[in-house]
Parts: sequence; structure tokens; C-alpha cells
Amino acid sequence: MKIPIKFFALLCAVMFLAGCEQKSKSDVSDDSEVKSYEAVSAYGEFSSQIEWGAHLVTIGDCNVCHTPKRMTNRGPVVDSTFMLSGYRPDSPPMDIDRKEIERKMLTVTQDLTAWAGPWGVSYAANLTPAESGIGNWTEEQFFLAFREGKAKGLAGSRTLLPPMPWESFGHMTDNEIKAIFAYLKSIKPIENVVPAPLPPVGSE
Ligand code: HEC
Repeated sequence: MKIPIKFFALLCAVMFLAGCEQKSKSDVSDDSEVKSYEAVSAYGEFSSQIEWGAHLVTIGDCNVCHTPKRMTNRGPVVDSTFMLSGYRPDSPPMDIDRKEIERKMLTVTQDLTAWAGPWGVSYAANLTPAESGIGNWTEEQFFLAFREGKAKGLAGSRTLLPPMPWESFGHMTDNEIKAIFAYLKSIKPIENVVPAPLPPVGSE
């Protein structure tokens, strides 16, 4: 069968227009998907900034180092009474041969709040909104600690010691860091003054 050329041209034009129409329709729906995704992702798909922050603290494993533990026969378990309050006076002490450790190993106390290595001994900080924690911190300080590894979030202070993974956490988005800070400000304040880190014995 011979299709008249005019009919064929018309068919092409209709198909082209239909294609355009479909494309512009899908553009619109893509746009609205992007918008609704943005609206939802303001809180990382959680219903509030604090809930999102709680989630990030869970998956960022902050409790592993910053919360004292109870020892069980299956290993250390987070002690939620002291949640995120850092190394405590009754946490296991770092009474080991530090010289030997510094020379060839890293070690950690059983509740994972004190760490020793070539840098000396570091104690996990109090992250609760108490005066001895981050109670007086501004969001700006929290950004300085996370992005530049500044102790206490102060520009002129020392660099945070291992094993605080600030170099990885610094890659979080601004909104993620803000959500973590908002969550930490919302938890129970626990006064606990964490000792200053000890320099390596080699340097004492
Ligand atoms: C592997 C262990 C570890 C993990 C995991 C960890 N931290 Fe830390 N963090 C530390 C240690 C140890 C210090 C103290 C470092 C020092 O004194 O230089 C610290 C220090 C900090 C400080 C600085 C406090 C101050 O007073 O200067 C902040 C803020 C902090 N951590 C937040 C977090 C948050 C939030 C998370 C989870 C997203 C987290 N950390 C996960 C070990 C850890």
C-alpha cells in the first residue's frame, strides 16, 4: 500500500507534537517530584529536625565512643542513663604501659570512652547540653569542631585528637550538621567534666 506523502508528513508531525507534549508533561512531573523531595528532605525525610538529628547520631555511632557502657558477657552495652556524657570518673581508667602502646599499638578502655595511641590519651567529650558539655556552644562552634576539628569549637584551640572522626563528619551537609546540633541541644543535660587529653609519655 502506498501511503500518501502528505499523510505521512502529518503523521510525523502529530507524533512529534505528542512527543513534545509528553515530554513537557514529564518535565512538569519531574519538577514537582524534585520540589516535594526537597520539602521532605529538609529534615532528611523525618518529621522534625530533632528526629533527623537523632537518626544521624545513631548511624554516626556517636554513642559508641561518647556514651559510657555497662559490661556484659556479650561485650559493652550503651548505658543510656549517661547518654552521650563522655568519659566519666568511674569509667575504666587507662592504667596501662603507655610507652609500649605508644610505640606500636592503639588501645581503648572497655567502655570505649578513653583511647591511647601515639597521640597520648584522649577522652570522649561530653556532648550533652550541660555547662560541662555543649550547653554553651553556638551552632558556629559546632561547625568549627566538625569541619575544622577545633576542640571546644574555638578558632584558636588545638586540633581534635583521634579517634574522633571529624575529618569524615566534616563531609556532612550543613543541614545534617545543624540537625545533629539541634538534637544534642535537646537531650538530657548531664554535668560531667571530661579530663583534658594526656600528651604522649614520650613527650612528658
Ligand atoms: C571512634 C570514637 C568516636 C566517635 C564514633 C565519635 N566521637 Fe566525637 N570524640 C571522640 C573523642 C575521643 C573526642 C575527644 C577528642 C579530643 O579531646 O581531642 C571527641 C570529641 C568530639 C567533639 C569535640 C568536643 C569538645 O569539647 O571539643 C565533638 C563535638 C564530638 N566529638 C561530636 C561527635 C558526634 C556528634 C559524633 C557522632 C556523629 C561523634 N563525636 C562520634 C570520639 C568519637
